[in-house]
Amino acid sequence: MAHVEGLAARQAALSMLDAVLRRGQTLDSAAQGSRLPPADAGLALAIAGETLRRLPDLDVLIDSATRQRLPDDSKARTVLRLALAQKIALGTPDHAVVATALPLVAGGPRRLVHGVLGTLLRRGAALPETATLPAAVDQRWRAAWGDDVVQAAGRAIGQRPPLDLSFASADEAAAYPLGVSLAARHRRIADAGSVTDLPRFDDGIFWVQDLAASLPARLMPRKPADVLDLCAAPGGKTMQLAAAGHRVTSLDRSKGRLARLADNLARTGLEAELVVAEALEWRAPRQFDAVLLDAPCSATGTFRRHPEVLYRASNLIIAESAELQAQLIDHAATMVRPRGTLVYAVCSLEPQEGEAIVSDFLDRNPAFTTEPPDSHALPGGVTPSPQGWLRILPGLLEGEGGLDGFFVAGLRRI
Ligand SMILES: C[S@@+](CC[C@H](N)C(=O)[O-])C[C@H]1O[C@@H](n2cnc3c(N)ncnc32)[C@H](O)[C@@H]1O
Repeated sequence: MAHVEGLAARQAALSMLDAVLRRGQTLDSAAQGSRLPPADAGLALAIAGETLRRLPDLDVLIDSATRQRLPDDSKARTVLRLALAQKIALGTPDHAVVATALPLVAGGPRRLVHGVLGTLLRRGAALPETATLPAAVDQRWRAAWGDDVVQAAGRAIGQRPPLDLSFASADEAAAYPLGVSLAARHRRIADAGSVTDLPRFDDGIFWVQDLAASLPARLMPRKPADVLDLCAAPGGKTMQLAAAGHRVTSLDRSKGRLARLADNLARTGLEAELVVAEALEWRAPRQFDAVLLDAPCSATGTFRRHPEVLYRASNLIIAESAELQAQLIDHAATMVRPRGTLVYAVCSLEPQEGEAIVSDFLDRNPAFTTEPPDSHALPGGVTPSPQGWLRILPGLLEGEGGLDGFFVAGLRRI
């Protein structure tokens, strides 16, 4: 293939999209192992990410420019998608879009791709302001949460989420020179750039954590206690718990992810006892005052930063996750001392992984009851559901930059 400036990054973006859409990988794992220089690797990730954000709307554009129906999983369609995403979302000039797209379909329907791309570029292709969700997600979320939430999710996909920082100390958060504070020990910065360039990054006084992801730890006991963080890595919640003065035991089955937790603790100067173990097999040495179960899930609530979750989370994956979550919450409950606290959380927008898990758990475990959160612990505008749980949906705090989708329930052992 003749040398074309920037082609390697587009080739890598094409491979990433294939890995996500056909093999169900995450974008991060699809990006790993790339031997590209950092700038090209960053560009490839940006192209693949922008393509995934707007895929259904890009397809409408493509279909409007050809009578020939391109199969969904055809290389020609994927190349057109990523070419248009560059033009529309990244502002790549037309000549670079065309020059880097055509070699990707060498030996294939090059003329067709050239024709469709030429037509759309001449038309000045644009996307609707509110993104369309993939059909399966649209259907699921419309049924679960209604039209307004689907609209809000569509608006959220098109915007860069702000950077949320959690601080070990309330005073440090209050004195921090950038951003606004929406809750204790929190600061939100719009257009932050690289986190390592932020003032005082090297001092380890904060870590990156979506404000919604900080809610589960805010439901844990206020007084220092003996707490277990089950499924703890990479450790945002462990750090909140350690910073609040708790004696923390943090368990995760992934040695690699726990190593990241250890690095995070070292950077922030916080302490926790780390345990590499399979949660369902671990026999706790004692019962704890409080257990936080941040369960593995479909992660559909993180779609703003990880748009691939919209394609990975099939009904089967959601059902399998829910089965594991039911086992994990039952096991976690055995480790809570009488009158102790159990907090269950998932970064999922699927009620099967949130509301259904906790209401079935409560039916099976009459020794537990819901303990609604103390409103002082919550950011303004975040209020519990009638059941006393927190359900964070797209649209909440939209004017302030929004939140990841989350479900959190505080439970007490009677
Ligand atoms: C949602 S993430 C946890 C995020 C973490 N609480 C934080 O705040 O950074 C879920 C974690 O559960 C771990 N995990 C999944 N299944 C597990 C199991 N059966 N036993 C132990 N850990 C598990 C994964 O390795 C992953 O790190």
